[in-house]
Amino acid sequence: MPHIAVIPGDGIGVDVTREAVKVMAAVRDSRLPLTWDEFDYGADKYLATGITLPDEEIANFRDNYDAVFIGAVGDPRVPDMTHARDILLGLRFKLDLYVNYRPCHLLDASLCPLKNKSITDVQFTVFRENTEGLYAGTGGILKKGTPDEVAIQTSVNTRKGVERIIRYSFEFARHKGLTKVTMTDKSNAMRFEGDLWQRTFYEVAAEYPDIEANHWFIDALLMQMVKRPEQFEVIVTCNMFGDIVTDMGAQLCGGLGLAASGNIHPGRTSLFEPVHGSAPKYAGKDVANPLAAILTVGIMLETLGYPEWNPKLEDIVRQMIRSGNVPKDMGGKLGTAATGDFVCRALQFGG
Ligand code: NAD
Ligand code: IPM
Ligand code: MN
Repeated sequence: MPHIAVIPGDGIGVDVTREAVKVMAAVRDSRLPLTWDEFDYGADKYLATGITLPDEEIANFRDNYDAVFIGAVGDPRVPDMTHARDILLGLRFKLDLYVNYRPCHLLDASLCPLKNKSITDVQFTVFRENTEGLYAGTGGILKKGTPDEVAIQTSVNTRKGVERIIRYSFEFARHKGLTKVTMTDKSNAMRFEGDLWQRTFYEVAAEYPDIEANHWFIDALLMQMVKRPEQFEVIVTCNMFGDIVTDMGAQLCGGLGLAASGNIHPGRTSLFEPVHGSAPKYAGKDVANPLAAILTVGIMLETLGYPEWNPKLEDIVRQMIRSGNVPKDMGGKLGTAATGDFVCRALQFGG
């Protein structure tokens, strides 16, 4: 019986998580026993107590929960992002969630901003390395606030870290019957990490002769994503480029309001979140699109071994798009709560 730790977080994270939890309740009521506890980590707690996310709580999640669901973190009252980094990157790093799984699947052609693209043209999955790279937090600042100030941020790439995300991408491709994995980097300029990524990619690829191994430099890849997205099936890349590629991938599929993701360590307690942030200007106004959070529930259940819910939720969203029952960012009129209610009603009918 899946037991979930839910962190609504900040801004619209709170709004969209409320709807995701409604959907969890609808899933529970239609046959899948599912339980959850809510945790109030976020900017309010940090500003009131100085607490971000204690290590003991991360251990609690790891030992007593099957998954963690988070809305979003980030608040203008904390401009240095201390709590958001501790919570989000803390969970990703301390739970060693090395796979950032970000599918970019166009659900309806009308959502794609590119000319003359059909659903089948935008159906790729991005695997972002999620525990190292420029996010590793190595570096420092020297002579801060003086004219001689120096800031250093180092990209950490280990053979183990690079290999496991590349291998996961090939395994995913094989499992799904896909034919191509594309690695993207900036090895023409970043010699050392580029060398490690290139060698590792082609060494692992040699173990998968049934799958084509393909490469683009990141600048060219972004151009190709706009020009000919149909060429991509699986994209694997480092932490920073994966962050950038997936916001653009989200836009090709209708925007951040729809983009769902998982931060996964296979077999361990993993973290699930919409790709978007806390969009503070929309917080509490019943305008945020909760569909990314709701589709994230689908990815979470799929990862936990209940694969039937993800396609069911995707189907419901597809029907909503076709009938024009969508939130404002997708050109419709539904508020945040009404969107969640719509999905729950559809689950009760069809579930
Ligand atoms: P953002 O994703 O919060 O918002 C960017 C824009 O995208 C919004 O202004 C809005 O127009 C649109 N948008 C995003 N999600 C939407 C939704 N569900 N419904 C409707 N429109 C939506 O990115 P940002 O403005 O760069 O960041 C705001 C804060 O969120 C920052 O503090 C940032 O660090 C943080 N952030 C957190 C996460 C996370 O917790 N996973 C992810 C990204 C950004
Ligand atoms: C994301 C976000 C985070 C990231 C931020 C909030 C640190 O943009 O999940 O895509 O860069 O990973
Ligand atoms: Mn991002």
